Amino acid sequence: MTVILDGKKVSSKILSIVKERVEKLSITPHLVVILVGDNPASRIYVNNKKKTAEEVGIKSTVIEFGVNVTEEELLSKIEELNNDKSVTGILVQLPLPEHIDKNKVIEAISPQKDVDGFHPLNVGKLAVGIEPYFYPATPQGIIMLLDEYNIGIEGKHAVVIGRSNIVGKPMSQMLLKRNATVTTCHSYTPNLDEIIKTADIVVSAVGKKIVRCKMVKKNSVVIDVGIYKGADGKLTGDVDFDFVSPSCEFITPVPGGVGPMTIASLMYNSSKVY
Ligand code: GUN
Repeated sequence: MTVILDGKKVSSKILSIVKERVEKLSITPHLVVILVGDNPASRIYVNNKKKTAEEVGIKSTVIEFGVNVTEEELLSKIEELNNDKSVTGILVQLPLPEHIDKNKVIEAISPQKDVDGFHPLNVGKLAVGIEPYFYPATPQGIIMLLDEYNIGIEGKHAVVIGRSNIVGKPMSQMLLKRNATVTTCHSYTPNLDEIIKTADIVVSAVGKKIVRCKMVKKNSVVIDVGIYKGADGKLTGDVDFDFVSPSCEFITPVPGGVGPMTIASLMYNSSKVY
């Protein structure tokens, strides 16, 4: 029988562990989230991060800039936050407007306050096998979910679909770190169906319906990172859940799978103080 991985339940458990950890700290962690422009989805994400942080005892401040903010203004605010000892975490919500170089912004954040784990130092540490200050929230949340259900990773063939810096690339690195054999697929991969069929674990982070009926191996583990509104207006993911789930041993739902785990994982990061 297929087990549906309950991201909501596991995230609640992680959040209560984070809350206990925060209570024991000698200082209150302070997460500053920077929001640029008026992207409605970004605003929802940012509000959700602030609300959840406060629920677990993490102080949270949202700093908003208009869409026309200059790169210098943004970099100068980040420098100020880097030097502020009371600020323990800094997150710049992506995407940024096109006139701002996102890589410059990410690189400006102190690696010890980079709760997203996007700074090149943290990315590089992960790549060479040194413990980074922070692991990116979504892949870390997925690993936490697999561990909670005692799903083995070592020796498995994991297929990651998508190669973004936020999910695909760090996911592949983290699965490698756990001794999986990892195949990273993307829009230029010609024989995606055949590769997916060989996977013990599939992680899809593409943003469109890509994992369909009869594509996955019997008893595989399918993790759906995609979340967007389908033609019927309902939230859906990359996986055709109704057709794919009967073949799986484990599968995440959308919503209620990876989404809540990402926020719990971010709160876990935000409770770390360097
Ligand atoms: N935009 C979409 N996902 C993320 C994320 O994990 N972190 C940030 N900073 N922006 C995002």
